[in-house]
Amino acid sequence: MTNISVRRRTFLQAMACAAVAGAITPASAQETFRIGLILPMTGVQSSTGKQIANAVKLYMQQHGDTVAGRKIEVIVRDDGTVPDNTKRAAQELIVNDKVNVIAGFGVTPSALAAAPLATQAKVPEIVMAAGTSIITERSPYIVRTSFTLPQSSVVIGDWAAKNGIKRVATLTSDYAPGNDALQFFKERFVAGGGEIVEEVKVPLSNPDFAPFLQRMKDSKPDAMFVFVPAGQGGNFMKQYAERGLDKAGIRVIGPGDVMDDDLLNSMGDAALGAVTAHLYSAAHPSQKNKDFVAAYKKAFGERPGFMAVGGYDGMHLIYEALKKTGGKADGDSLVGAMKGMAWESPRGPISIDPETRDIVQNIYIREVKKVDGELYNVEFATFEAVKDPGKTKK
Ligand code: PHB
Repeated sequence: MTNISVRRRTFLQAMACAAVAGAITPASAQETFRIGLILPMTGVQSSTGKQIANAVKLYMQQHGDTVAGRKIEVIVRDDGTVPDNTKRAAQELIVNDKVNVIAGFGVTPSALAAAPLATQAKVPEIVMAAGTSIITERSPYIVRTSFTLPQSSVVIGDWAAKNGIKRVATLTSDYAPGNDALQFFKERFVAGGGEIVEEVKVPLSNPDFAPFLQRMKDSKPDAMFVFVPAGQGGNFMKQYAERGLDKAGIRVIGPGDVMDDDLLNSMGDAALGAVTAHLYSAAHPSQKNKDFVAAYKKAFGERPGFMAVGGYDGMHLIYEALKKTGGKADGDSLVGAMKGMAWESPRGPISIDPETRDIVQNIYIREVKKVDGELYNVEFATFEAVKDPGKTKK
């Protein structure tokens, strides 16, 4: 008995000395670090799930699977875009799999459903996709690497008012990010002298745009402001072209979600001339992005879109935070390390606002053009280091 306790004390003392001297890593730091990745791998938002899962894989291929002496393991759960499934998956990952971080979250309702669990378990929740302003306020353990809809919507609202667009019809997905997009666009566009002539909200799941598009055509606006979530732009643009809105000269403007790079090339010439404001274009001319696009294409045979970038940067955030804590993985240490972190992403320079835990990033205005026979969002103006306007307003 005595022997064992003595031996144990000696062992602990040795460990403490070694840890202080930095000679060896403490035993706890050698445990596997688990990331629970909850994504819509099936269902209406599955293109988001696929992009993020691909980007996470690519990041790990490029940066290895050991950080600060800890092996990184990613456990993917499909929530099929159903918030109840997200909640159940988060619970199981935290309780059974003992994950250190939950990440992903393809839509706002999923990110919100997991928030109370993150708070309760003190587990960081890294939002890689969802874009409603309010999300980061729902838990002190939420950190976002995607975007907010107000970030892009204020920029396109100002641009439209200053660039000869007088009358706009709006079409937005009828849920939280669509409402954020509409509210922030409208405020800036109307303040700049613009007029909203028609306002339509469409359901999130399997929307049929056709009946609304006829009405929009009849009201003869200069442009249509469109927000549909990633993955739905192709269907929207097909119906827009079928109804002849492009021929009627009604141009598409909006946050860049509708012109997501993974679908853009299949939209055809109806997309040419669309002007959107967004965080990422596959045509962003930095070397970092050229390398990212080339590696992603090589690995998965297609272009990355903005959701892929949110996943890639989310992994960077987790890796760098774990390095900064020296392998310490409690939620408070990790979130503390994430606050204020800044780096160069394929999208450009980004950082985590230490006050709000939300992303600060450049917003680019882009126009769809044909480059070497392919459609791209070609950036022509940059608004630097944009904080979420949804928070600064309050
Ligand atoms: C969201 O549900 O927050 C969301 C999803 C896809 C987008 C934008 C926002 O493209």
